[in-house]
Amino acid sequence: MLDANFLKEKNARSVWHPMAHPADSINNPPKIVTGGQGVKITDVDGHEVIDGVGGLWNVNLGYSCDPIKEAIKNQLDQLPYYSIFRGTSNDVIIELSEELRAFFKPDGLSRAFYTSGGSDSVETALRLSRQYHKVKGNSGKTKFLSLKYGYHGTHIGAASVNGNAKFRTAYEPLLPGCHHTPSPYEYRNPFNETDPAKLAQLCLNALEAEIAFQGASTIAAMIIEPILGAGGVIVPHESFVPGIRDICTRNNILLITDEVITAFGRTGAWSGSRLWGIKPDFMCTAKAITNGYFPFGAVMISDEVAETFENDTTGLANIGHGYTYSGHPVGAAAALACLKETQRLNVKDNAKARGKQLHEGLLELQKSFDVIGNIRGGHGLMCAAELVSNRETKKPIDKPTIATISKVAYESGAMIRVSGNNIILSPPLVISEGEITTVLAALKAGLSSA
Ligand SMILES: Cc1ncc(COP(=O)(O)O)c(C=O)c1O
Repeated sequence: MLDANFLKEKNARSVWHPMAHPADSINNPPKIVTGGQGVKITDVDGHEVIDGVGGLWNVNLGYSCDPIKEAIKNQLDQLPYYSIFRGTSNDVIIELSEELRAFFKPDGLSRAFYTSGGSDSVETALRLSRQYHKVKGNSGKTKFLSLKYGYHGTHIGAASVNGNAKFRTAYEPLLPGCHHTPSPYEYRNPFNETDPAKLAQLCLNALEAEIAFQGASTIAAMIIEPILGAGGVIVPHESFVPGIRDICTRNNILLITDEVITAFGRTGAWSGSRLWGIKPDFMCTAKAITNGYFPFGAVMISDEVAETFENDTTGLANIGHGYTYSGHPVGAAAALACLKETQRLNVKDNAKARGKQLHEGLLELQKSFDVIGNIRGGHGLMCAAELVSNRETKKPIDKPTIATISKVAYESGAMIRVSGNNIILSPPLVISEGEITTVLAALKAGLSSA
């Protein structure tokens, strides 16, 4: 490793950080992470903390998953790269596809299209949705629907279906024909409705109204996160996602579940679709598919969609889409080992138990700290605390205060994520009871400093 002083001096001088103002990264230098073991990370000063963020919702199995590391090393020796564009394949991608088919069988998904990450997966699902309708003879079905507050990544396609202005405005004009409907966000919604079931119904009514307005014959797909993640862990009522499935089916609109966060156990179920008991037409995955050790993703495809493409004899189903790294053998080897470990450790059950502990601990903290306006979670290891400066007006807390809370929490032993006025917690799914207690204690120390 280069000298710590050198790193600190050069930090952010030549690097532009995603999701940051370049000047801010120079004035408030990011923490330099140099090591990871178990569920902990170490910075350049040797300070070790529990990673309450789990990398970026992706390091589900922690930083010491040797089977994945071994698989990557072995694959680099065996075949470090070959493309799977028409005419070639590789052994590991075939093996992985069979494993994914078995894993996602309860979701009704059987074929995989490979990508290099979440935004690629979203782009793929959007494109293939349009193509599906063309193959079926419905070439007018091209628009996309999505939820306000949803996050789907950063390609122009993904940004166009994103439901948060901070990921959109600077890059407009975005793709035409993308329309957003209300989210079941109990704490803030245009209906002033706090009852989860009633709010879900109001949001479904708004969706139906939007479809009627646009015309179902113009809409290709709706994309949703089963639990909205980056938008602040917005957890819908149990009737919401099945309601969307039903509306999409009735209107011949494909349903894409964006499970870049929720696939592979984070919600306490193996997928968000399974959590709510629905079957999507496409499912976008990435992140935890390799535990974050290799950039990789897979779009899972339903039998019906797959057969529509496979049975086409007109040529319309020729796929003019794919990435150099689609089906990368090292990524495939990492994913195979990761899937095996994910299932062997049955991480969904620990996510459920520890998620309950974390959620209850946050609700307890809310009793003592007025700055906590709203706690969200209750389904696995994805929770948020929305901070306000005034509980009556719900005015979001100011940036310096939330930054201090995060800094003190870090000094007290936990990395937490600040996103707007939310603190988001998404630790590795292998985290222990004692480690969750430490995360809560560190957050409490942070809140006490505010
Ligand atoms: C639900 C969801 N979709 C898509 C993405 C984009 O994934 P990536 O950053 O790998 O492109 C993310 C990233 O956080 C995500 O949370």
